[in-house]
Amino acid sequence: MAIVVTTKPTANDIDKIVRVLDEITELTPRTKKALKSSQIAVARDGDELIGWLISEHLCKNVYEIGGAYINPNYRRQGIFEELTKELINSDCVYLVASYHSYIIRHFLRDRGFRKSSLMEFAKLSNGRFITKRIRTAVRVAHHLSNNSAKYIIRMDNT
Ligand SMILES: CC(C)(COP(=O)(O)OP(=O)(O)OC[C@H]1O[C@@H](n2cnc3c(N)ncnc32)[C@H](O)[C@@H]1OP(=O)(O)O)[C@@H](O)C(=O)NCCC(=O)NCCS
Repeated sequence: MAIVVTTKPTANDIDKIVRVLDEITELTPRTKKALKSSQIAVARDGDELIGWLISEHLCKNVYEIGGAYINPNYRRQGIFEELTKELINSDCVYLVASYHSYIIRHFLRDRGFRKSSLMEFAKLSNGRFITKRIRTAVRVAHHLSNNSAKYIIRMDNT
């Protein structure tokens, strides 16, 4: 079955994404409301949702890419890469914070991203990068105690 990538998730997709993000402690939970106001690229194998990537609006033309999840049976086949291509537009600024060095390396290599910092993220997003995390403070604090996040950015081309 061919894998299809689209930015049009169904209501069932959104329910599943909320559920999985809540269940997997390495990921930051999102509400249905937050997801409905985000852009989400989803990957399907037939009727089955096998992965997604979320682009959340922070302010003006600034977005945060995150919440990536690929079904373990489909990993290391370039699906995350396909989802990224589907989501990124040249006239927006994209922020990515990740604990995985391979995700950071992936974006830094020929994809227009550069190294950044928490301070720059806070400034460019008018503080929204920080305040949106307050709701999930306990889980974020847990992530921070175990890992050290890295910050990268892709500026718009306009
Ligand atoms: C992280 C995740 C989304 C990657 O999805 P994927 O479809 O397997 O990724 P791709 O096959 O498109 O690979 C993307 C890049 O990451 C690298 N990569 C993926 N998984 C890797 C792993 N376990 N170890 C090392 N490198 C890895 C690939 O080699 C590729 O690198 P390159 O393009 O620089 O050569 C997936 O492993 C996942 O869902 N993990 C659990 C949830 C999670 O950790 N989400 C990340 C939140 S930031």
